Amino acid sequence: MLDLRQPWAIGPVEIPTRLVLAPMAGVSVQAFRRQGRRFGAGLVCSEMVSCAGIEHRNERTLGYLRVAADEHPLAIQLFGSEPGSMAEAARMVEAAGADLVDLNFGCPVRKVTKTGAGATLLDDPDRAARIVSAIAAAVDIPVSVKLRRGLRNGSRDCLVVGPRLVVAGAASLTLHPRSAQQMYTGTADHALTAELVSLVDVPVVASGDIVSRAKAQAVLATTGAAAVMVGRAAQGNPWVLEEIVDGAGREPSREEIVAELVLFVRETVRELGERRASGFLKKFYGWYLGRGRFPRPFKQELVVLDSTEEVERRLLAAAPGAIPLVERLEAEIPSGDEVTLELPISVYGGG
Ligand SMILES: Cc1cc2nc3c(=O)[nH]c(=O)nc-3n(C[C@H](O)[C@H](O)[C@H](O)COP(=O)(O)O)c2cc1C
Repeated sequence: MLDLRQPWAIGPVEIPTRLVLAPMAGVSVQAFRRQGRRFGAGLVCSEMVSCAGIEHRNERTLGYLRVAADEHPLAIQLFGSEPGSMAEAARMVEAAGADLVDLNFGCPVRKVTKTGAGATLLDDPDRAARIVSAIAAAVDIPVSVKLRRGLRNGSRDCLVVGPRLVVAGAASLTLHPRSAQQMYTGTADHALTAELVSLVDVPVVASGDIVSRAKAQAVLATTGAAAVMVGRAAQGNPWVLEEIVDGAGREPSREEIVAELVLFVRETVRELGERRASGFLKKFYGWYLGRGRFPRPFKQELVVLDSTEEVERRLLAAAPGAIPLVERLEAEIPSGDEVTLELPISVYGGG
């Protein structure tokens, strides 16, 4: 049995456990990342942030560069295709306080791939390597890269691209061994992860279909990966992280579920504002309350409510015992010490 509480490192960045919380667009808000850290993730990652958005000083994009004191170690992930603007964006990521800059060379979504970013870079190893070396030269924090196996089904391109990226300066690679064409169908082929591990001398993180402690242990043992990454299994279910890291394997009580969800709602409202948060949060109600935990009509009731205050009221009415738990959680998390962007005007191009 491997001990997932064993620390490891990416360059100088110490990571306390062998579990990494996956970057997920539309999911990996600060509340998700902080919760992930509390439940045993050794490293958390922002969702992919548009390099073009940073370049154009898009306000919403810059909001993704907010880092809280209790998130470290944290990676901020960038996507883009121009080495120069990627390097400038990476400098902002570093200035924002991230411990690592992660690059998305795996996103299969057309909106991203048609711009030459995401998984497209697996077909353009020269450009991919230029991006990594430009960023490695621009920042002091380590650069990590997240890959898929290749664009098309059966592709083994990651075994060619991955080692080149290490030569270019990548300090770690994460492999999600599905093709871009596969999207999320089929299964992640971690035999490929094992091959990648044997080809590079930097830590490799295994991503894809890690849903239990048994699966995490099997993938770590058979691939030689330094850590596993957990994505979908943690949506509305931070307890699975605890289970994977410690083998705690505990079903949460209704009170615990409601307390975590209420805290999640409050934090997300603080981060995104009520208007954005109320729409954003709807999918989380199903994720938290599903899995047979609460009757289906209850979840449907919450989804149609307009205000998150009303959602909170209904949740706490359904499990009043959650009230002291929420208070305790609120007391434990640091507040008011977020590292907001304190960048020189020149970085913003303003003034
Ligand atoms: C909703 C969703 C959004 C995702 N967004 C990103 C992203 O922004 N960047 C990225 O590198 N991977 C992204 N992924 C891929 C995950 O990080 C992970 O590699 C993939 O889901 C496989 O792991 P899993 O089986 O544990 O979910 C996303 C996945 C999902 C389901």
